[in-house]
Amino acid sequence: MRRKVTRAIFPVAGLGTRFLPATKSIPKEIMTLIDRPLIQYAIDEARAAGITEFVFVTSRGKSALEDYFDHSSELESLLRRRGKNDLLEMLRATDMESGAIAYVRQHQALGLGHAVWCARRLIADDEPVAVILTDDVIMGEPPCLQQMIEAHHDTGGTMVATMEVPTAQTQNYGVLDVAEDMGAVVRVGGMVEKPKSDPPSNLAVIGRYILAPTVLRNLNALREGAGGEIQLTDAIADDIAAGRDVFGLRFRGQRFDCGSKAGFLQATVAFGLARDDLSGEFSEFLHDIVAARRAAE
Ligand code: UTP
Repeated sequence: MRRKVTRAIFPVAGLGTRFLPATKSIPKEIMTLIDRPLIQYAIDEARAAGITEFVFVTSRGKSALEDYFDHSSELESLLRRRGKNDLLEMLRATDMESGAIAYVRQHQALGLGHAVWCARRLIADDEPVAVILTDDVIMGEPPCLQQMIEAHHDTGGTMVATMEVPTAQTQNYGVLDVAEDMGAVVRVGGMVEKPKSDPPSNLAVIGRYILAPTVLRNLNALREGAGGEIQLTDAIADDIAAGRDVFGLRFRGQRFDCGSKAGFLQATVAFGLARDDLSGEFSEFLHDIVAARRAAE
């Protein structure tokens, strides 16, 4: 029987330079999409997929992130006294069970592969583990990681989330070389990180992974790859080269790159429009502002 995926690694040790100056003092993962920090979207997605153990790979300057997961008993009793039960309920939904979160430090931002490697001692030798990049916020039902865990139940091996991107954008992603296209799931014959030319396909890897234990072992090589960083893509490609199974899942849903300013704005609009409490006023505003711009052109 396949071992269940119950643990997820959240690498949050990056420098977030694209959001300077904000990220001088605010971790990128705490930046808010509407009213919730990015990390909350990632946690909610993980929980929906059955994840019960959460490993954060953090770095200097990320204490706000750790504080976010503390239970706020003062705030809770104030809300209770004031009868604000809806807010209390919302706050409680963000509470994490004591002992469910572990933090490890990445002392230098040497790349995503290195960040995942930093968590190796907290993962059992025979355990498949999920990796979630909080920058990638995905609107989807069921949530993306749940779709992956369901597909992984049938395939085993390593699985990455993938989506079609225009050829001109492939240089920004890890790109799949497809060995066999089975529809939603593809068998991967190779992976290239940020190809400068001749991408093997238009299928880009985005920030959700289920890693076979061998991928973590491959990371022990700590080999520098594209951009001088230790790349997770290379450790997965090593597994393919060794003849092990790697799959891509074309997930159902829309992904927003909240690590970029344009992506964050797009996510704000899409999530704002999807919220019952905001969509009326917000869509009217958007409509008016677009009409005014058109009229001025
Ligand atoms: P990014 O490539 O978006 O890098 O990392 P970044 O440093 O966060 O942001 P920019 O490019 O400077 O604006 C993708 C994910 O991998 C994590 C990041 O925290 C982010 O979730 N990461 C990256 C690490 O944890 N450690 C690293 O060394 C690199």
